[in-house]
Amino acid sequence: MAVTFHAATAVAQGDAAAGRKKALQCQTCHGLDGMAKLPDAPNLAGQNPVYLVKALQDFRSGARRNDMMSLVAAKLSDADIDDLAAYYGSIRITVEPPK
Ligand code: HEC
Repeated sequence: MAVTFHAATAVAQGDAAAGRKKALQCQTCHGLDGMAKLPDAPNLAGQNPVYLVKALQDFRSGARRNDMMSLVAAKLSDADIDDLAAYYGSIRITVEPPK
């Protein structure tokens, strides 16, 4: 409960416009529009910001490991993570489940 509240608070402080600029370093793999450019990278567009913050914090702390993301996340500040989560989370998507 406390962890969820903390993450939600951090996201509320994220600046999507600042995050868009910071996302230039993510676009090779995740796209500036949040649609992945590599087959093994996930789409980030419209993802829940609370989830994005946790994923980035986990890569940074080492709780979650990936050759590419562990390197990328090591350089991110708390503010970077909040801004990036606000940016990718605020990209509007539509979904069409198969009939
Ligand atoms: C060199 C390619 C590359 C770059 C650059 C990169 N990523 Fe990733 N990212 C990946 C891959 C590959 C994964 C999948 C990791 C795994 O399988 O655990 C991933 C996973 C993630 C996840 C977890 C998503 C989920 O669904 O769990 C987030 C969040 C993320 N990246 C954000 C970012 C952000 C923000 C940046 C820029 C600061 C960034 N990435 C830069 C390749 C990259």
